[in-house]
Amino acid sequence: MIQPDVVTAFTAVRDINLDEPGTPQAETKAATFKSASSSIYDLAASMSAKGQLWNWGVHDSEFVAEIEARLPGFTEYGTDGFSEQLYYLALRDLPKGLESCDGRTVLEVGCGMGEGLNFLSRLVPTARMTGLDLAPKAIASATATLSRGDTLRFVQGDAEELPFEDSSVDVLVNIESSHTYPNLGRFLREAARALRRGGALSHIDVFTRQRLEAMRRITTEIPELKWVSDHDISDQVRAAVRRRMPPDSHLRSTLNKQRMNRLARTLALHSQITVFGGTFADYQPPASVKMLSRLGLVPPMDSLPMETYRHQIAVRV
Ligand SMILES: C[S@@+](CC[C@H](N)C(=O)[O-])C[C@H]1O[C@@H](n2cnc3c(N)ncnc32)[C@H](O)[C@@H]1O
Repeated sequence: MIQPDVVTAFTAVRDINLDEPGTPQAETKAATFKSASSSIYDLAASMSAKGQLWNWGVHDSEFVAEIEARLPGFTEYGTDGFSEQLYYLALRDLPKGLESCDGRTVLEVGCGMGEGLNFLSRLVPTARMTGLDLAPKAIASATATLSRGDTLRFVQGDAEELPFEDSSVDVLVNIESSHTYPNLGRFLREAARALRRGGALSHIDVFTRQRLEAMRRITTEIPELKWVSDHDISDQVRAAVRRRMPPDSHLRSTLNKQRMNRLARTLALHSQITVFGGTFADYQPPASVKMLSRLGLVPPMDSLPMETYRHQIAVRV
């Protein structure tokens, strides 16, 4: 049976991303949604394998070569590396590249179980990094398995109400998280408040047409953030999502090692590909899954009409 929290969260994400004027959700609705969203990510934290990141990823052979030069063997860490490439991109394209973080304070808002930030802290070991997430179990898992004193720590909190002093952050990273915030403007204002002058916000997310229009309008209302780049990275994201589909993919070989029958494996693969950007990359479910869907035995996994996946950078002026 589908849990009520799942229904609440999916309905709210639809509202947030399809709302024409991009108006903030009413406070009571927003609070209900945040509570459902944090329950779902708590559940995901209790089911996720160690080392798992929660974004669609990107693939670009240049990124792989650049990461390999800094962290030899990074592709042998037990993941397919696509989600780590997305994290690398978040710092690579900052005005001063990865050096923007040397000896500096880095905050990730919406860090999930912290593996992406852990990866960044290996790329820039001199930085002081903090990860914040709404889901308490994700933060508990990150703290128990990854935290390392001032170098890497994790706190539970809300993107729309950051528990940090004014002007206390040099680089703020936000990856595939803001499309679920009921009030995007409040998050961007909080980011501007927490950043020091000259600091940077690296924002990566997937957008419906409506949400992109809303973001463009909201950004004109926050003069403290000067947007210096806005790149459409949809093709690189699709390249990563498509690399998870073939029989020899890392995702498939991981599932093949797990004890389950053939149908369960087919369904697990289908849900993983769908959740991690399948529709955006034109994924077609196999005939067996289509038939089970028609019979109502597989819940429909309607995806939102996502138009573009973007990386945007703003400097705090
Ligand atoms: C798709 S996951 C991405 C996680 C991570 N950035 C990654 O790329 O692997 C979205 C994350 O945003 C978090 N999130 C959602 N709403 C939030 C909010 N209002 N404040 C902080 N985190 C939030 C979720 O709990 C979840 O961990």
